[in-house]
Amino acid sequence: MTEGSGLRGRSVALIGAGNMGVALLEGWAAQNEIGAVSIVEPQPSQRLQELCAAHGYALNGAAAPRDAVVLAVKPQALQAGAAAAAPYVGRETVVASILAGKRIADIAALLPAPAIVRAMPNTPAAIGRGVTGAFPSAGVSADQRALADALLGAVGAVEWVDDEALIDAVTAVSGSGPAYVFYFAECLAAAGAEAGLPAALAARLARATIEGAGELMRRQAETSPDELRRRVTSPGGTTAAALEVLEAPDGLAGLMRRAVAAAKRRAGELSG
Ligand SMILES: NC(=O)c1ccc[n+]([C@@H]2O[C@H](COP(=O)([O-])OP(=O)(O)OC[C@H]3O[C@@H](n4cnc5c(N)ncnc54)[C@H](OP(=O)(O)O)[C@@H]3O)[C@@H](O)[C@H]2O)c1
Repeated sequence: MTEGSGLRGRSVALIGAGNMGVALLEGWAAQNEIGAVSIVEPQPSQRLQELCAAHGYALNGAAAPRDAVVLAVKPQALQAGAAAAAPYVGRETVVASILAGKRIADIAALLPAPAIVRAMPNTPAAIGRGVTGAFPSAGVSADQRALADALLGAVGAVEWVDDEALIDAVTAVSGSGPAYVFYFAECLAAAGAEAGLPAALAARLARATIEGAGELMRRQAETSPDELRRRVTSPGGTTAAALEVLEAPDGLAGLMRRAVAAAKRRAGELSG
């Protein structure tokens, strides 16, 4: 997670405070050092109102240029969101967009901002454990990039790419990735039921296994996944028997490649 100091005293406007917007606000609030925060949200949730009351954030109040504007409306609301954002955008403002499929050029066409960051978070941001891929437009200064990094990093890791086209691949790996893992849990549970376990027990075993393996991987960050895998695979044992199936030419690697390629292709179509 990004160090908190990057937000100290910085002013921010958040346009759209639904699921992702509120997750970001929770992350900023946890660091407790951000400057003025203004929010534009037509239908404020109870949680949003609580956050605003607890931290003095301005909800649907007067607008003035801010250090950063974060666009977090649905992609189909970009036009209206940009209109709401415009009064907060000054010459020095960095605009960070998390809108899936909306390119820097789409945002630049609607907002007179030379500094735009296109970002793709994922849903574990809701628990501060997201990972966000980000690309800066040519007009983004080092300071603006650091500010965007701190804002996005309040809900997890931030990985910068140097080519906007790579955001489609980021979308296909980490943006959509949580759904692949949930589906893996479903498939493992279904296979367990077929192996004779009561379905509910198989589901609990699959779920706890993925939670535990994920946490183990997190805590042993210096150890690669393939090394972790080798450590639980004794030659000729049960895990080896299963991995032989998963590693077969028609196994998981090829499936994953095709799944990620399909998501990347779709991301390209949506932003094209
Ligand atoms: N990769 C991922 O997994 C991922 C995950 C989440 C989000 N995202 C991206 O994050 C963005 C937000 O997603 P979300 O799930 O947070 O959506 P959401 O819950 O629908 O939140 C969007 C919010 O923006 C508000 N809004 C709409 N028009 C507005 C306007 N003109 N001015 C100000 N606010 C406006 C909406 O209000 P109303 O309810 O009144 O419409 C809603 O509360 C999306 O663009 C999505 O692509 C990516």
